Amino acid sequence: KTCILIGAPIDSGQRRAGCLMGPAAYRVAGLARSLCDLGFTVIDRGDLIPCPVPPVPCSNPAIHGLSETIGWTLALTEAVDRALDDGFPIVLGGDHSLAMGSVAGAAAHAAAAGRPLFLLWLDAHSDFHTLDTTTSGNLHGIPVAYAAGRTGFDGFPPFPAHLPPERICLFGIRSVDPEEHEALLRYDISIIDMRVIDEFGICAPLRGFLDKVRAADGMLHVSLDVDFIDPAHAPAVGTTVPGGTTIREAHLVMELLHDSGLVTSLDLVELNPFLDERGRTTRLMVDLAASLMGRKVFDRPTRGFG
Ligand code: ARG
Ligand code: MN
Ligand code: MN
Ligand code: MN
Repeated sequence: KTCILIGAPIDSGQRRAGCLMGPAAYRVAGLARSLCDLGFTVIDRGDLIPCPVPPVPCSNPAIHGLSETIGWTLALTEAVDRALDDGFPIVLGGDHSLAMGSVAGAAAHAAAAGRPLFLLWLDAHSDFHTLDTTTSGNLHGIPVAYAAGRTGFDGFPPFPAHLPPERICLFGIRSVDPEEHEALLRYDISIIDMRVIDEFGICAPLRGFLDKVRAADGMLHVSLDVDFIDPAHAPAVGTTVPGGTTIREAHLVMELLHDSGLVTSLDLVELNPFLDERGRTTRLMVDLAASLMGRKVFDRPTRGFG
């Protein structure tokens, strides 16, 4: 059992400085130690640097950080594809634009292995803009559309084997822009928004998606945005949206994911340590990652309440 940590101090996908401190904060909070305690061999590959990319022309004047984000996409695609040969990659962000690279790397690896890739997006946002529809110009708002093979990604490398909508699940969402909403109606993506979670809880909707992954012998990439969790518990993020998951709901997601045995790679994104309160958000993210990798409240020999 080997975990490979890949630092991605990427800040180009949004406007507030600080996400580039994310990888360092995870290391300070002891992510590697937590994984060692679970029995993993941990290889920390250090922080990546983006591939050099010359300025890229773009017709949407709102967009910023385009060539830098493309450079990160190239570097991360390669790094995650390679890391999957050696173990379980955990990408330490960095803002959510890093997922263009991490999901592309996982998709390239899955295609070479002849297996379908599934994507679980744990987020307040749907991140389904294209370069043409984003009004904020923040490229952390586009990676799901890139993975789904939407057009409007000029300048980006073509996504390797884009994911059919039924292999994508947006979980925990509660902030969707009008253009994203319109586009999502045309795609058959599973949308487990907060309303669904309020009504049915975490287990049933998540199991529904995991059953599809298992039935297809799929690989599963999980992308965890800090704002998936309610800002009352996880304040260290630039894009807070009230009405998110509780600490226990988030842990339950991770515990069910671990029990499934299906997850093959993970992103931890959008942490802005500059906005944190005595490290509490960073520590929560480390604890959630540990739950996903197998830490339990109590290790019962059998399931049930006995
Ligand atoms: N939809 C908004 C935008 O495009 C917010 C995106 C937030 N994304 C994120 N990864 N935090 O600007
Ligand atoms: Mn590979
Ligand atoms: Mn996001
Ligand atoms: Mn978000």
